[in-house]
Amino acid sequence: MSRKVFVKTYGCQMNVYDSQRIGDVLAPLGYAETLEPQDADLVILNTCHIREKAAEKVYSELGRLKRMKRLRHEAGAEMLVAVAGCVAQAEGAEILRRAPSVDLVFGPQSYHRLPDILARQAATGRAVVETEFPAEDKFDRLAPRRASGNVTAFLTVQEGCDKFCTFCVVPYTRGAEFSRPVAKIEAEARTLAESGVREVTLLGQNVNAYRDADGTSLAQLVARLSRIEGIERLRYMTSHPRDMDDGLIEAHGLNPKLMPFLHLPVQSGSDAVLKAMNRGHTAQHYIRLIECIRKARPDLALSGDFIVGFPGETGAQFRATLDLVREVGFASGFSFKYSPRPGTPAADSANQVPEDVKLARLHELQALLHEQQTQFNRACVSRILPVLIEKPGRRDGQMMGRSPYLQPVHLAAENLVAGEIVDAHITGVGTNSLSGHYGIAA
Ligand code: 5AD
Ligand code: SF4
Repeated sequence: MSRKVFVKTYGCQMNVYDSQRIGDVLAPLGYAETLEPQDADLVILNTCHIREKAAEKVYSELGRLKRMKRLRHEAGAEMLVAVAGCVAQAEGAEILRRAPSVDLVFGPQSYHRLPDILARQAATGRAVVETEFPAEDKFDRLAPRRASGNVTAFLTVQEGCDKFCTFCVVPYTRGAEFSRPVAKIEAEARTLAESGVREVTLLGQNVNAYRDADGTSLAQLVARLSRIEGIERLRYMTSHPRDMDDGLIEAHGLNPKLMPFLHLPVQSGSDAVLKAMNRGHTAQHYIRLIECIRKARPDLALSGDFIVGFPGETGAQFRATLDLVREVGFASGFSFKYSPRPGTPAADSANQVPEDVKLARLHELQALLHEQQTQFNRACVSRILPVLIEKPGRRDGQMMGRSPYLQPVHLAAENLVAGEIVDAHITGVGTNSLSGHYGIAA
């Protein structure tokens, strides 16, 4: 029987990967993916709990789905609604109380059990909630990965977090740090390479804490994967400054397949705030670390995450973050207003920063980060950069690809195929992208 599933993904790249894998689990059950929720027999929201706004979006979507579900029912068809991911993990059965039209709730560690979860719902007609952290390796039980046709892919190698930053829900939603065995990752990477993938981004909430049961480190894993024929580019995210070991720093200098772009969140430039956040590093430690990595790979471009308005943050402490940003220089950055998350230590602090102060700080930091991004992009003009061709561009005779620094590049070039890496002459810069040409086009 052919059925349709619509999956909507919120949050981080780990969720993007999980949504693809959910599709792999459902394909053998006869589910084809649709982009139209109203046509779907099964709608899955793969959710994020990191900030309040992310979690609340899910409930407004559930309101829309409730109406859609009723319309489908009136038309003689049914629609199952599932909440997956981190909101499911954090709120469990509470979701059913707030949104009774939900049929399935399952956490990020349970989606390999979907066939069973669906069967249980079908047998009883009642909602099923599955948010345990099973000891078994879910990756072992997943259906094989289907080819996506893309030349870039995500590959989750590590999950969970043992760091317990005081603002963060991840240790509660994704559980303890866990690393997949090298052999399994290699096998998955080979499958990807055979299906035409040229660039693999290794994912983990604390990806540089990767260490498999045999003691293989992320640097060693990268070395192994870079020997796979067809894999031309490797990236990894998200890293913690505390886990940036010497081997990984060296790898940036030694391994040409490891791209010179690093997402390394620092969160704040104030030591007092970093301490209250339980980050386990100071601003100086971060700055020295960047110096070391840049020594190994001088053209390294950096991206970071920042939180403004953490409980108790003073004006001077916020300015320390601006100072750090100025000293380091970022090619891109993501900044957020602190959002108190239930169950995390900082949420109970009495000295919460007022919303208007948070917003003003956010705007100031974003303006600075935007300025640095523009500066970085402008500095690429007139350089020759290797571009991995991904797909045809918006206009005729154009192709779209990515620079080593992850910038989208629009190339005036005919006859290029997805998967090729070409040396492109960069001639222009847009808000978030570069443009240029390849070959004789002028
Ligand atoms: N409030 C605001 N931002 C947060 N982040 C994580 N938790 C919170 C929170 N409670 C940000 C951090 C992290 C990124 C993924 O989200 O900057 O690196
Ligand atoms: Fe959001 Fe964190 Fe879950 Fe990713 S792991 S979806 S960022 S809460």
